[in-house]
Amino acid sequence: MKKIFLIPILLFSATFVCAQESKDIKLKAPQKNKGAKIMQALSERKSTRTFDAKELDIQTISNLLWAANGINRPDGKRTAPSAMNRQEVDVYVCLKSGAYFFNPQENELKFISDADCLLRDAPLTLYLVARAQEGNTWAYIDTGIVSQNISLFASGFGLATVPQGSMPKEKIIKDLKLTDSQLLILNHPVGYPAKENKEKNK
Ligand SMILES: Cc1cc2nc3c(=O)[nH]c(=O)nc-3n(C[C@H](O)[C@H](O)[C@H](O)COP(=O)(O)O)c2cc1C
Repeated sequence: MKKIFLIPILLFSATFVCAQESKDIKLKAPQKNKGAKIMQALSERKSTRTFDAKELDIQTISNLLWAANGINRPDGKRTAPSAMNRQEVDVYVCLKSGAYFFNPQENELKFISDADCLLRDAPLTLYLVARAQEGNTWAYIDTGIVSQNISLFASGFGLATVPQGSMPKEKIIKDLKLTDSQLLILNHPVGYPAKENKEKNK
């Protein structure tokens, strides 16, 4: 008799686990031979605040996250340097489907919530969060370096972005389920430039 009661519980648990797992997004290997050369990326870097509605494909998102703060060496070090190799900067990603944590070791996006945390109508917004306490200068410096990686990636791939300190912090902290030991420092909406920008910039 006990078994009969156990079966629906087990089925429910299995469905719940599968549903949770299916919300994570497996990223693709970064394409390290793509994009503009560094001098061209630097000469085209700029802040752009209006975006086209076109979504970024999964390969572009994978490349972007690797460039931002992915692992580029077998010893686990990153594309962005960090003071005393603390590697305290995490990248959170907001897509139409919700909020995710970029796990560079697994090269995947771990689902956090289905919050709408997109900014400026961009199809994707990155949030740079440091595992540090307020006033830790190194955390802000390290975050700035990740931010510049994102800006250079964007210019090298013809994408638009702007680093922003302004944001609805209380809402985003809730959306990303951040704790007191984390600092929400910057965000980067990323997407294709709005059509009128392209024309203006010609
Ligand atoms: C740390 C930092 C914070 C910024 N915060 C904002 C912001 O909250 N909102 C905004 O529109 N731009 C923000 N910017 C972008 C600057 O306004 C922009 O970089 C500056 O005007 C120079 O333009 P450029 O990036 O095109 O060279 C920020 C830039 C930095 C480096």
